Amino acid sequence: MNVKEIFETMDYGPAPESASEALAWIEARGGIAGNFVDGKWGPVRDDMDVLNPATGKRLAGLTKSTADDVATAVAAARKAQPKWAKLPGHQRAKYLYAIARLVQKHSRLLSVIETLDNGKPIRETRDLDIPLVARHFYYHAGMAQLMDSELPDREALGVCGQIIPWNFPLLMLAWKIAPAIAMGNTVVLKPAEYTSLSAMVFAEICVEAGLPKGVVNIITGDGETGAALVDSDVDKIAFTGSTAVGRRIREATAGSGKSLTLELGGKSPYIVFEDADIDSAVEGLVDAIFFNQGQVCCAGSRLLVQEGIADDFHARLIERMAKLRTGDPLDKCIDVGAIVDPVQLSRIEDLVAKGGPEGVVHQPCAVPEGCYYPPTLITGLHPAAMLMQEEIFGPVLVSTTFRTPAEAVEVANNTRYGLAATVWSENLNLALDVAPKLVAGVVWVNGTNMFDAAAGFGGVRESGFGREGGWEGLMAYSKPKGKATPVKPAPAVKAPDAAIVEGLDRTSKLYVGGKQARPDSGYSRAVYGPKGKLLGHASLANRKDLRNAVEAAHGAKGWTKATAHLRAQILYYIGENLSARTDEFAGRIHDLTGVSAAKATSEVDDAVSTLFTYAAWCDKYDSAAKPVPMRGVALAMNEAVGVIGAFCDDRPLGGLVDAIAPAIAMGNRVIAVASEAYPLAATDFYQVLDTSDVPGGVVNILTGSHTELAKPMAGHLDIDAVWSFSSADISTVIERESAGNLKRTWVNNGTQRAWSARDRLAQATEVKTVWVPYGE
Ligand code: NAI
Repeated sequence: MNVKEIFETMDYGPAPESASEALAWIEARGGIAGNFVDGKWGPVRDDMDVLNPATGKRLAGLTKSTADDVATAVAAARKAQPKWAKLPGHQRAKYLYAIARLVQKHSRLLSVIETLDNGKPIRETRDLDIPLVARHFYYHAGMAQLMDSELPDREALGVCGQIIPWNFPLLMLAWKIAPAIAMGNTVVLKPAEYTSLSAMVFAEICVEAGLPKGVVNIITGDGETGAALVDSDVDKIAFTGSTAVGRRIREATAGSGKSLTLELGGKSPYIVFEDADIDSAVEGLVDAIFFNQGQVCCAGSRLLVQEGIADDFHARLIERMAKLRTGDPLDKCIDVGAIVDPVQLSRIEDLVAKGGPEGVVHQPCAVPEGCYYPPTLITGLHPAAMLMQEEIFGPVLVSTTFRTPAEAVEVANNTRYGLAATVWSENLNLALDVAPKLVAGVVWVNGTNMFDAAAGFGGVRESGFGREGGWEGLMAYSKPKGKATPVKPAPAVKAPDAAIVEGLDRTSKLYVGGKQARPDSGYSRAVYGPKGKLLGHASLANRKDLRNAVEAAHGAKGWTKATAHLRAQILYYIGENLSARTDEFAGRIHDLTGVSAAKATSEVDDAVSTLFTYAAWCDKYDSAAKPVPMRGVALAMNEAVGVIGAFCDDRPLGGLVDAIAPAIAMGNRVIAVASEAYPLAATDFYQVLDTSDVPGGVVNILTGSHTELAKPMAGHLDIDAVWSFSSADISTVIERESAGNLKRTWVNNGTQRAWSARDRLAQATEVKTVWVPYGE
């Protein structure tokens, strides 16, 4: 090609990056990736092949760690943890800072190794993956520095097991390790079997930074190694990967007391309104779905384009796609690299072969032979089509149209996932009207795929739970200080041989949708005082009553939209009305439990104070604007979780109020199951709710067996979170059954502790990160 032709075509010439230094680095380590445990290498065995997806050639060998290898690594982390946590935050900060500097120093080696191992273009590893890794360690060096002053009531969890995927190998490692060690945890991390090499370079960086041995341990291996890590003696599992494996891990950790965060799949909508800057939206879309070959959990893989501009938009998109350069990822002018592995390639091919014929498949750009898949657009699909619902995890965009903003929201939310969403419109009123209505953990306005250490990232629904990044991300790597003590179940009251019946017998009903409701079972149980006095009968709710309560709670959606000021007023009002009936409730508590009149009164006073506390918090649990290093702000918006089921502890009134007050303060609707031993104060509470302007369905109260209700509550697909403060041993059932729709759980595992208001409010909210353009 001569100069004239180059000017005419404006084609890029190849600009290959040399692989020699990276290959020499691998060779110098014996050509095998293995474990880094307690500051030393080993075992290192050639159990599996690591391939370069761009060439299909073997790059290295890989050690498949056994359960024993995992146990050794966990023991090393366990031994190192107390000393690491005791270091002043400033000392930990210095190590994290040193790691950040060393990542920058070795950035070229890291970029090339990552590209060789994963197949992603060097342009991306060099300009995005590795700089973001350094940013993450800088940011969390700051968190280590500030922990002592800003989080004085929190401490490390202990040893964290971390399992990461292959799509952003080093970046996911940084997302996991930086916050964990900043907060004083030690870690055992397992990289994905396709992409373990950059973790080896990272281990060397830890040595170079002088990190104490045992703080960071890396074990290589496949899913079996991952499963062994899940089962090992760790205090937490942090997982990023497929929803199927996430669900398995939820089940495997149920009842173990291990804390868990899951960052799973997605099918994120990319919504383009007709007033959008179309060329920008096309360019954004190229980034949303073809970046990293579409192997991105939050990829904008579902295009929703407004009908009036759909033809024009598709035409411009196809024209742009035709210009994408696919090929050797080490070539700096390449846009789309290789698919991570032939297994993943055939998964993409199969899905498109199956679902493609339901629409029109456009593949305007050629790809080389080998592990490559052409950038693809499939138009004309029905919103319910298989490819509109299934995560493809490749460079395949599916498209549908909508007419109105309301329809856009409806189609966008018609998915089992809830990770990210993108909105393009030049009308900020419209974009910011739509953003809160999208069920997603992250929303980008007029931009896409923006990430930063200061901004929380994570999903809702089957995209998992927990956030990574920002202050909110630290919650997943720390816990309140202080010991949890075993829950003390209320002493069993045996039915006396001859009950003392005084006055009229009263059978309390359930409270559903703002009305008293007879239980479906028709059964109730007698409730006696400790001296054998028959106090009344409590209904025994069953699965059908629970279903009715869920329906009522969903009918009360208006509560979530009510202003924080209005919610505060109503909580104050509940407190005021309860206060006016202090003697009556204190008498009831005394009769139920036998505690002294003074103690009973103090439980009522505490409940009133709790209601005032959460009334106060309604408009003070602030959302935040994160200073991200780009032209925009990331708003961390506290949103209601939705419908929360809560099993109350055995304080007849206090247990109920502690559960419902933070939940409704944040705009949730609740289904509370009253203390099983002492249900009658909760049933008296209906009247307080009735007289306090609480809309029907916001608070629903059931009475009955916690053990029987735990399974249907945790398994119900229309409940978003389940809490248990119960004395019944139901934590395992709740965590296991929650795997169905991967709802959030907050259970006590048979222990109790004094949760702070902030802890409770964090459980009652989801942080939605909304990125909006701002400033220059
Ligand atoms: P995967 O979920 O199987 O692998 C992710 C990590 O989990 C790897 O380190 C793997 O070794 C480990 N793992 C696998 N089975 C495990 C188990 N039973 N217990 C503990 N750890 C286990 O993902 P895979 O098979 O590589 O990709 C399959 C699909 O998953 C992709 O097509 C894509 O749809 C999705 N995926 C989503 C990712 C995300 O970031 N959300 C990342 C990678 C894959």
